[in-house]
Amino acid sequence: MKIPPVKGTRDFYPPEMARHNWIIDGWKKASRRNGFEEYDGPIFEHLAMYQIKSGQEIVEQLFSLQDRGGRELAIRPEITPTLARMVNQRINALPRPIKWFSVPRLCRAERPQKGRLREFFQWNIDIIGEDSGQADAEIIFTTLDYLRMVGLTPRDVQAKISSRRLLATVLASIGIPTERLDALYAVLDKKPKLPAETFDALLAEQVPDPSQAGKIRDLMALDSVDRIAEIVASNEDLLKAADELRTVFDILRTMGVGEYCVFDPSIVRGLAYYTGVVFEVHDIAGELRAICGGGRYDNLLRDFGGPAISATGMGMGDCVLEILLEQRGIMEKQVPQPAIEYFVALADPEMARSVYEVTARIRAQGHAANFSYRQGGLSKQLKEAAGQKAAMCVIIGQEYRDKRQVVLKNMATGTQELADLEQFLSRLSS
Ligand code: HAM
Repeated sequence: MKIPPVKGTRDFYPPEMARHNWIIDGWKKASRRNGFEEYDGPIFEHLAMYQIKSGQEIVEQLFSLQDRGGRELAIRPEITPTLARMVNQRINALPRPIKWFSVPRLCRAERPQKGRLREFFQWNIDIIGEDSGQADAEIIFTTLDYLRMVGLTPRDVQAKISSRRLLATVLASIGIPTERLDALYAVLDKKPKLPAETFDALLAEQVPDPSQAGKIRDLMALDSVDRIAEIVASNEDLLKAADELRTVFDILRTMGVGEYCVFDPSIVRGLAYYTGVVFEVHDIAGELRAICGGGRYDNLLRDFGGPAISATGMGMGDCVLEILLEQRGIMEKQVPQPAIEYFVALADPEMARSVYEVTARIRAQGHAANFSYRQGGLSKQLKEAAGQKAAMCVIIGQEYRDKRQVVLKNMATGTQELADLEQFLSRLSS
């Protein structure tokens, strides 16, 4: 019986694994140079953890299971609740602000589509214990620092930034009751993915008054924080929320990534726990789903039984990113090809055992080395070496028997030199 791979999962053959590792290495490098420390948690948690605060969409996409003791568990669809749980457990021992990153493997039972799978990797960066816009700016800066590092420019990607606090104050001024906000956010978040009529119909279900709905549509289309006054009269809360957002933009400009950033009030975010600045990075052409998303979540630690400590963070999946990097030819140029450094070849059948010895000594110096398992002639072995993209062949022949010398063949240029084995090995260690 042939068993196919599970829908929405990927197999990472070595070339795909090389690309995958290159992405992960880049995420880790960007995290570390921006001052984040790595953490991880378990791949499954109590089901209730996601039911508390992740929001309806995530709950519907959970892979849940029951253990033998009848406990309801779920494979993690995101790591933010785990982070909140872990930080709560040690809150008094951890120096703040906490700047942590992680690259968890996550599962969501979504309908698989371009850029969205059922199993994926997600880079997370979070800052806990700092409620000023500086932390939001750091999260957005670190995200852009990575995208810029791999070669994506403001002509490729854009960070669309808004604020749930701003949105909430505008919606309150329009007359939307606070208890209706969560359901309304879920609809507003879907706007870019829906045809205009479908969105209007969903909005009318939440906001039946056409004048209120009209104001919400006008708000979604604004291109500057300063134009909010065109929608609602200013008040103290609104001024505060707008100022917070201006601070974030100001820091981002000063740190040199202002060109990537725009204000976009249609960014609401699907998850239920966001409370302040929110953002997503999209491809400029608008062909793909969001590359990443994040924002401030000031109540999550408290909702999980901890103190009221503010937090802000971001998650970036590997799927859309990979599509974009492929499209721009970035992967092709930057991902190192899997290659062996040394291939030890045998030119004198009587010296067969020396191949094992020399290979082992090269490996002991920390270099990748292989040899052929087949008893073939030298030309066959050189072909095998070329197939493995070996940089150099170390040929063991007559000279080795006579004087412990090997022939070093540069596989790119074809040039050969004779070298004393011990000298060659000592060169490898330096
Ligand atoms: P999210 O918007 O659910 O946020 O996911 C963030 C990113 O993860 C998306 O923009 C996308 O790149 C990737 N992603 C999500 N679902 C899938 C999928 N099915 N297949 C492939 N990629 C996917 C969160 O997860 C928040 N916990 C992020 C966060 C961290 N907020 C604060 N800290």
